[in-house]
Amino acid sequence: MKSYFRPEIDAMAGYVPGEQPKMADLVKLNTNENPFAPSPEVEKALKNFDCGKLRRYPDPMADSFRDAVASFWGVERGNVIAGNGSDDLLTMIFRAFTSPELPVAVLDPSYSLYPELAAMQNAPVIRIKLAEKNFALPENLLAQAQEANLLMIVRPNAPTGTLFPKETVRHICQKFDGIVVIDEAYADFASDNCIDLAKEMDNVIVIRTFSKSYAMAGIRLGYGLACKEIISGLMKLKDSYNIDMLAQLAGEASFRDHAYFEARRKEVIQMRRELADELKKRGFYVPESESNFLFVSPPDGNGKGLFEELRKRAVIVRYFSAPVTAPYLRITIGNPEENARLLKAIDEIYA
Ligand SMILES: Cc1ncc(COP(=O)(O)O)c(C=O)c1O
Repeated sequence: MKSYFRPEIDAMAGYVPGEQPKMADLVKLNTNENPFAPSPEVEKALKNFDCGKLRRYPDPMADSFRDAVASFWGVERGNVIAGNGSDDLLTMIFRAFTSPELPVAVLDPSYSLYPELAAMQNAPVIRIKLAEKNFALPENLLAQAQEANLLMIVRPNAPTGTLFPKETVRHICQKFDGIVVIDEAYADFASDNCIDLAKEMDNVIVIRTFSKSYAMAGIRLGYGLACKEIISGLMKLKDSYNIDMLAQLAGEASFRDHAYFEARRKEVIQMRRELADELKKRGFYVPESESNFLFVSPPDGNGKGLFEELRKRAVIVRYFSAPVTAPYLRITIGNPEENARLLKAIDEIYA
């Protein structure tokens, strides 16, 4: 059939999200979800929700949710935009700041959705390679990114889990002539974050998600923090009612229960340390992770082989086939039972 798509859409492969397999008794460690349930406050809020309200549209600006975020971070409502997951915010950001004349600079390896979003805009992508082994930022990053209008930094980075030094990121934001997005999907599992950079600098957007540390990947909610001019510009690009009523309610409820959030967050960090130690004992190379996953290379460096063997044992992790990531697997921190089953499977495979 003749294609009526724009040529750049025809040329796209399209982003492939991590599998959501239906196998029974599965250990699912492939999409960095939280091993715990969301706060009981979320369940309470949803159970008490009057479904009659669903005949109305939700608040298009998600003001009550944005107020909760703003007061938590000590900013104003006008500094916050809500997204249907942070992917929704990324879509707005790429629409706003990239075009055939306005390239984007992305790190390599990093979140593989970014080049797909650039392809939709027919925008050139400048790939900036991280150092091998420790995945550090290159010293000449600013020179490499010079032509870009948008620079994407994931901190802690995915899939590597590593945390770029904050002072380096601050310096990059100060010197880069364009918008810097700091994607903090995993920052709640890290030792610091860059929210203050979004408060201090007009060219910085920090984006956050409820999918990881708040255990609500299924609800689709995220937010961005930036100066008011950037937020009001992005508002022009959002779907009119991009956050449904239930997501707004659930987001606020989970945000209120900070004690629960803090306790679960610490547990995940503790389990990450334990799992990293166990894998190191088995000869794996485990770069220091500050996220809710580990990026690990087995002793034989055969990421694909281990991925397939684990899969045979109903343990699903994530494998990225690009040459730089092929020796590794990305493994989400599961609950204690899941982590134990992962280790048992590894012991069987290398017995
Ligand atoms: C770095 C990064 N940014 C954004 C997202 C998207 O998160 P959300 O579920 O909020 O769309 C992910 C999801 O895995 C991610 O790894």
